[in-house]
Amino acid sequence: MKTEIKIKGAQAGVIKSLRGLMAEIQVTGEKPDIKELLIVEDHPEVFLEVNFFRADTAVCINLTNNQVLRCGQKVYRSHEKVSVPVGPKTLGRVFNAIGEPLDNGVEIKENRRSITEPSGTTSYRSSKSLEMLVTGIKVIDFLTPFVKGRKIGILGGAGVGKTVLTMEMIHNITRAGDKSLSIYCGVGERIREGNELYETLKETEVLKNTVMFFGQMDSTPAIRSMVGPAAATAAEYFRDEEGKDILFFVDNIYRHIQALTELSSNLGLTPSEGGYSPLVFSELRRLQDRLSSTEQGTITSVQAVYIPADDLSDPAVQAISQQLDSVLVLSRSVAEMGIRPAVDLLKTTSALLTPQIVGERHYQLAGRVQAIMQKYESLRNIIAIIGENELSPADRNDYQNAKKLITFFSQDFSVAERFNGRPGEFYTVEQTLDGIEDIIGKEGHAVKKTKSKKEPAQTDQQESGDKQ
Ligand SMILES: Nc1ncnc2c1ncn2[C@@H]1O[C@H](COP(=O)(O)OP(=O)(O)O)[C@@H](O)[C@H]1O
Ligand SMILES: [Mg+2]
Repeated sequence: MKTEIKIKGAQAGVIKSLRGLMAEIQVTGEKPDIKELLIVEDHPEVFLEVNFFRADTAVCINLTNNQVLRCGQKVYRSHEKVSVPVGPKTLGRVFNAIGEPLDNGVEIKENRRSITEPSGTTSYRSSKSLEMLVTGIKVIDFLTPFVKGRKIGILGGAGVGKTVLTMEMIHNITRAGDKSLSIYCGVGERIREGNELYETLKETEVLKNTVMFFGQMDSTPAIRSMVGPAAATAAEYFRDEEGKDILFFVDNIYRHIQALTELSSNLGLTPSEGGYSPLVFSELRRLQDRLSSTEQGTITSVQAVYIPADDLSDPAVQAISQQLDSVLVLSRSVAEMGIRPAVDLLKTTSALLTPQIVGERHYQLAGRVQAIMQKYESLRNIIAIIGENELSPADRNDYQNAKKLITFFSQDFSVAERFNGRPGEFYTVEQTLDGIEDIIGKEGHAVKKTKSKKEPAQTDQQESGDKQ
């Protein structure tokens, strides 16, 4: 970190103990505020952020991760908190969580906002506006409609294609002429991926309308846990002060939870649920609340979610999923079949798949596709025992259709052209619906019930199917 805080206030106290990233300050002078940055004597390059108080001890996190501190050193107030620059001057720029440039550009000192305080707005917009953004990706437009002001999650284990799918969404939405402003938030992932995205966006001029924040895997947990709030601060400014519609991309929101968990253990807080401290979930909720739409503008977010050990029941994954409108699940077994994007059609759910949003025809088709996929799951197990020839003609037909549907949703991505040499494909919703009707027919049994993401029924059925 390059920034130094120049303004030194009154003495707050002295360093009492140091452990990992934690520094305990014996408050002997002026009591600092929560989240205030403290300055250590002779070390203006070090940032200590006050996290909480234990009697007259201020428990702080060292944001700078260096070894220069010693017990007994004097600590001063700064009356400053971690802040990032906001507004038009930040467009096309790349910052770390504390607002320092990562792109060799000039430091922006004016128009900064503290990252810990959400913008004062309370006038959250009701969910009336239901404008669909076309992604050109068949499976997304069909099963998890991308609606302005809402949140979509792309869930999957390591290497199943979350980042590639997120990139394709950025590529396609901007290609479709959407004039939104984009905020990209890179948390705890590979540094190389951040560089690649920056270079790609620069080539396509999309960068001009994008602000990027990164705290990748080499950063301390304190810094990684601040990237989300930093990017949210930037988004809130454009939404509330400039009335803009914002596309907010995070790769990867699970890393935010992971950073908070590491931070809690650094601070000596005890974990509970599945190894996560309760604080972690309340912080996640706070961040998700900030990524909402207001009377002034909208924030539409795409959130990549890493699934540890491919276990969808992980408490953090569950907590994240609950706050999303659509959950697109990528599966290793589908990826192994060579299907890209490797979407699990049964585990993928959306609360936005309603006739009001997608229209009656689309809604009915989605219900039929889901019913066929559920049948496919149970038939697969039966076939493993008795063979496909023993199925009734109707069952055999559904089984074949399900296999065709799985292949149908496979699609080449523009951003993957450099892996496989095949140019990307973009489909209108109409083309997608026509393609599905070509497979399962126009008529047919309209299945009334659509999956709601609040209902784990599909997973249950799938599991019971497995046992048959
Ligand atoms: N849609 C796709 N088309 C072609 N290759 C893909 C696609 N998605 C993923 N891949 C391959 O899988 C690798 C891992 O994908 P990535 O998106 O980085 O995974 P994750 O972010 O889930 O860890 C990519 O580097 C690429 O080789
Ligand atoms: Mg990734």
